[in-house]
Amino acid sequence: MGQTKNFFKDKKPWSIVKDRVLDYYLKPYTSKVLRTGKPVIICDCFAGKGKFDDGEIGSPLLIAEHIKSHLLKQPDADNKIQGVFIEKKYHDELNSNLSGYANVIVYPGSYEDNLKNILAFNANNNLFLYVDPYGIKSLDLSAFSQIKSRKFYSVEMLLNFNSAGFLREGCRLLKYKDAFTDEDLTDYEVDDDANTKEKMDSIAGGSYWKDILSAYYKSQIDIYSAEEQFFSEYSKRVNHLFRYTVNIPIKIKSTHLPKYRLIFGSDHEDGLILMADNMNKKWNEIVANQRGGQGALFDYEFPNLAILKSFDLHKDIMSFITSDSSGVLLKSLIVHLIQRYGISFPEKHYIDTIIDMEARGLLRIDRYPSVTKTGKPARSMNYDDYRITVRLK
Ligand SMILES: C[S@@+](CC[C@H](N)C(=O)[O-])C[C@H]1O[C@@H](n2cnc3c(N)ncnc32)[C@H](O)[C@@H]1O
Repeated sequence: MGQTKNFFKDKKPWSIVKDRVLDYYLKPYTSKVLRTGKPVIICDCFAGKGKFDDGEIGSPLLIAEHIKSHLLKQPDADNKIQGVFIEKKYHDELNSNLSGYANVIVYPGSYEDNLKNILAFNANNNLFLYVDPYGIKSLDLSAFSQIKSRKFYSVEMLLNFNSAGFLREGCRLLKYKDAFTDEDLTDYEVDDDANTKEKMDSIAGGSYWKDILSAYYKSQIDIYSAEEQFFSEYSKRVNHLFRYTVNIPIKIKSTHLPKYRLIFGSDHEDGLILMADNMNKKWNEIVANQRGGQGALFDYEFPNLAILKSFDLHKDIMSFITSDSSGVLLKSLIVHLIQRYGISFPEKHYIDTIIDMEARGLLRIDRYPSVTKTGKPARSMNYDDYRITVRLK
């Protein structure tokens, strides 16, 4: 316990992962949304100091650097991109760590109190929310729904949810004594403030967590299934806010219980495809970087659902295309597969599998226009250039 006090002493290996995920995504994200002609606000809702005591940079500096390099490349984008950083405790340090960076602003105080400021952003903006609190207590689901109701030009969110911390706190509140004993399982200490069951309901978006924990307490399910069930229910609630979600469990092999889960939400197919593809491709890179010196401490388990859940990609493709005899759009098929497989595969793997299934006579791919500009039969799988449908042979 007591991790929160030492959080900024040095950056823990598992903390680096979420920053990398953010970092890798921001570049393609900003270039894509700025093409809408609307400005973008990147809002770091639990920003921290900006820098760790060991010199590692935190999410605010990462975002500020990103904005800086974007402005260097496109000076005319000056009024088009902004970083907003909310920080309750370390706002002064954050301010000084951000000095010299353009287009950044620190909002001192809590995320809860600053919600009104987020809601006051011009709705003409694209909004990206990075939500990385210590624990779960500030994550009232209705705050996200208020932000969504504001009808920004677009909203995307990357949220760090400490599901194991939630369940541990749930056990404590339900007086399931000693049900959750392994202190090492969670990243941070559960928040200091007294929680209530009602507050947990608002965080979870319902009281389903009590039934799950009750089943766990009665030994009907183990803690891993409890966590899976809980997060699957939670994701459904996030899915009411965002059309598409993908979540990334950050696990260490030894326990199998996620340290935390990153959940990404977007209303756009492109956002989902970009995030899932990017995450998959960068995963090995992240792990390789981590292993520089720390490998023995933290060995990530790659969340390949095809293996972990024995899913069958061919079967899933066939069952999705049989659902519509007139054929399904290639892009919709990929989105469907990502929602099932998470970040298990890069986008290219889905496309190669579909091409291979066509070659084996299992399905048919149609493109419109059916010929290239030079009059040759179109073979492209680029769904931005062609209308591509996949159907049963
Ligand atoms: C996990 S740290 C954020 C780390 C940061 N993303 C980074 O990469 O360096 C959470 C931060 O949220 C701050 N905090 C805690 N409760 C808060 C609240 N209710 N509103 C805003 N910030 C809060 C803490 O002071 C801490 O700096």
